[in-house]
Amino acid sequence: MFKINENYLKLPGSYLFSAIGKKVNAYSAAHPDKKIIRLGIGDVTQPLAPAILEALHRAVDEMGRAETFRGYAPDLGYEFLRSAIAGQDYQARGCEISADEIFVSDGAKCDSANIQELFSLDNRIAVCDPVYPVYVDSNVMAGRTGTYDSAKETWSDVIYMPCTADNAFAPELPGDGQTPDLIYLCFPNNPTGAVISKARLQEWVDYANRVGAVILFDAAYEAYISEPDIPHSIYECEGARTCAIELRSFSKNAGFTGLRLGFTVVPKELKCGDVSLHGMWARRHGTKYNGAPYIVQRAGEAVYSPEGKAQLKEQIAAYMKNAAYIFNGLKEAGYTVSGGVNSPYIWLKTPGGMSSWEFFDCLLEQVNVVGTPGSGFGPNGEGYFRLTAFGSYENTVEAVDRIRKLHL
Ligand code: MLT
Repeated sequence: MFKINENYLKLPGSYLFSAIGKKVNAYSAAHPDKKIIRLGIGDVTQPLAPAILEALHRAVDEMGRAETFRGYAPDLGYEFLRSAIAGQDYQARGCEISADEIFVSDGAKCDSANIQELFSLDNRIAVCDPVYPVYVDSNVMAGRTGTYDSAKETWSDVIYMPCTADNAFAPELPGDGQTPDLIYLCFPNNPTGAVISKARLQEWVDYANRVGAVILFDAAYEAYISEPDIPHSIYECEGARTCAIELRSFSKNAGFTGLRLGFTVVPKELKCGDVSLHGMWARRHGTKYNGAPYIVQRAGEAVYSPEGKAQLKEQIAAYMKNAAYIFNGLKEAGYTVSGGVNSPYIWLKTPGGMSSWEFFDCLLEQVNVVGTPGSGFGPNGEGYFRLTAFGSYENTVEAVDRIRKLHL
């Protein structure tokens, strides 16, 4: 008789964005006449930039001719894309990362869920609270998180690093007796939209090297950084090559949520004793993965072309115009808001002491606007709410105007 991985049974509820989707679909089915504006999941709405579309068309045509047809992609990614990434995302910023340290994949969500496989089940993880749920859930599935306390909504073996208004939503280094082995950091942060300075990130790198921890650094939103002195990559910090893995996505900077493309950087110096994590991750890719599609990798290459870069700069500016509209509109209306300056996410305090889900229901039912309840990201998200700037400008303006008219 087969047995299941019982760790799955420990997972409370369903995945946050699936739960929200179900609620919204039920409301929509019951009220087909209502125009719902969705500023919940961070999904892009602008069409692919022309340079990317052209690259896709060219690659599709290549696949239709015997001389240029491609079968299996190299499992770590095509050289043309890995070189563009290493050169433009890293070396151009002074980071010492080479093309053979880049592992191309079909997205940062999968990589951030899969990377924990490289580590012992005894390892203790530390996460920000609130946090992107994939980091915790993937460790629950692996059996690394201990028991769940449903009253506190926390796991016994996870170190939670509170990110609150008091610390500007940036975690403090873990205190004595709480030494993590794996530290998940995401900056610009999902969900709070907060950033940390290079000096603060350097403290994390120094800490990880001192205690022998690995930082799993999710930089999916780096393209939204608008202020100076905010690191775009953890490898801008000295010593990061011996303690950090970086995860990146093409979803938010280039609109690939439906195309799927991302990459993970594993420096060759990152070792446990004399075992290299680079070698382990390469082994995993070789066994479990056949590479992102050729046409999508060609589309990814176009992200780095001069035309692609100019077009994507405009896309991001358009989303950031939405972010500013939400931020300023809600602030003027008396809301306490943060994020939205170096990030497409606006993090707001729910009004009148409402819980995150009460505010979600209120927005959905009274003004037909969908956001994401902060408590879905962790206990310290309770009393907060996330709105995304990824909608159209018209919908963003209408949503803010509707929220401002809300009678609470
Ligand atoms: C989010 O809304 O938090 C993101 O879209 C989730 C993701 O990128 O997987």
